Amino acid sequence: MVRAFAPGKCILFGEHAVVYGHPAVAVAIEAGVEVRLEESERWVLDGMNFEPSRHPHIKHIITNVFEYDGSPLKIDINSTLFPAAGLGSSAALSNAMGAALQELIDPSGTVDAIKLARISHSAEAIAQEGRASPTDTAASALGGSVVVSGERLKGINHRFDAELITPEGERNWSIHSAELHPNLAEAWLVLGFTGKGSPTGKMVAGVADLLEKEPAHKEDMLAIANITNAGLAALAAGNLPAVGIAMDACHKRLQNIQVSSPALDLLVNSARPHSFGAKLTGAGGGGCMVALTNNPKRVAEAIEIAGGKPLISRFGTEGVRLID
Ligand code: PMV
Repeated sequence: MVRAFAPGKCILFGEHAVVYGHPAVAVAIEAGVEVRLEESERWVLDGMNFEPSRHPHIKHIITNVFEYDGSPLKIDINSTLFPAAGLGSSAALSNAMGAALQELIDPSGTVDAIKLARISHSAEAIAQEGRASPTDTAASALGGSVVVSGERLKGINHRFDAELITPEGERNWSIHSAELHPNLAEAWLVLGFTGKGSPTGKMVAGVADLLEKEPAHKEDMLAIANITNAGLAALAAGNLPAVGIAMDACHKRLQNIQVSSPALDLLVNSARPHSFGAKLTGAGGGGCMVALTNNPKRVAEAIEIAGGKPLISRFGTEGVRLID
């Protein structure tokens, strides 16, 4: 049997602005997806008959990427992520599936994180009608903190470039790894799930409409880009209060472009008294918020009292890996 685990992710800065070529910062979180594979008499997923059409990421990896024609497989998936909550569960699934299948076909005891990030990005693109940024898949594959941008950034470790033909034309991204300052080892992320799914496509389309009807909101996009750069500098310096201030400022701008919701604002406000900063994370509308704190239990309690589901995580954990 082979087992692999890939973490979920949380966007710290730059959601929505990244769609327009500005940088975004995402970190791997502790929760994620484990995939177990073993050869079997028939194709089984979580104890049921495996129906490829219902699992486009898995189907793409088995059939198109690896062109697997070996024995049928028994696939078991165990996720500790809230589903459809903007925490990158499909990216984590694709990375763990890719790592496990690679090991089953050609055992080496190691993973090639960049190769897996590329495979998983292609799986996301297939499942999302050709529109997928490499943010989730890169954060889950590489671990730590990744910066995704429309151009190569200076002074930061460039890892690889990604490209995709989307219905709107070719898109290119550069993916970098940001160093995590030792001070961040004392910090925790607390995610708060509103309980409502986050419809990424709808939210991105809504922002595009808003920018067309009210071009003044382009200023919010530029402000998010500046906040992201300030947040990156604060992360590099290990200045937790400054990271928190940037998170609060980012949330304000995300409210301006109308992607927050009363439920997200409630959870953000409940977390702030015990946090360095808090903001919605991901596409918004529903999904999750995130707080940076050194008092994770207190923040988790506050989120729960406000009606959210908390998830405590260390900051920027390891990326995709095989498990013994
Ligand atoms: O799918 P989510 O919730 O992780 O958010 C995606 C982030 C966006 O910037 C809103 C969209 C994108 O493709 O980058």
